[in-house]
Amino acid sequence: MRRWSRNLPRNGAILDIGCGTGWPIATTLAEQGFAIFAIDPAPAMLAAFRQNLPDAAAACESAEESRFFDRRFNGAIAIGLMFLLPEAAQRRIIQRVAQALHPGGRFLFSAPQAACEWDDILTGRRSRALGATRYHALLAAAGLKPLGSATDEGQNHYFEAMATVPS
Ligand SMILES: C[S@@+](CC[C@H](N)C(=O)[O-])C[C@H]1O[C@@H](n2cnc3c(N)ncnc32)[C@H](O)[C@@H]1O
Repeated sequence: MRRWSRNLPRNGAILDIGCGTGWPIATTLAEQGFAIFAIDPAPAMLAAFRQNLPDAAAACESAEESRFFDRRFNGAIAIGLMFLLPEAAQRRIIQRVAQALHPGGRFLFSAPQAACEWDDILTGRRSRALGATRYHALLAAAGLKPLGSATDEGQNHYFEAMATVPS
């Protein structure tokens, strides 16, 4: 998170989609001076988030419906979320992020690199990663330039993209 956020303007605004409790991701970004806007439809998660980050803006809403996307952000993250949702919802979130980012803004989300389906061990929900080829196509169609991907020490895979700057 710290490495990714170095490419964002100091004190910029970041949208945390599916924020959970906010620890350690949003708390780390807030410590770097970013203004955090967070959404999660689970009331217990949002309550914990508000305790952990009392100064952040937080809404108990789904990513598909949230009004926070009416604002503009320098960065957006969706960690541990995309693959919990059906493909249509994943596509919708990518489109909403593309519309909500300032030109040059960055989007980071986690999902396995290869297309696959499984039962999520935490939620028991059927989960699906669309795979790098499909994610890159969806990002490009929404106006986001895929920048690359990385795998962390816990074998979580991340896709990064940037909102294109109008020429
Ligand atoms: C695995 S947790 C990840 C939490 C946090 N991003 C992290 O990495 O610590 C997934 C979160 O996504 C939230 N979530 C599920 N469906 C969602 C949706 N449609 N829109 C936004 N968040 C959603 C869940 O409530 C949960 O808090």
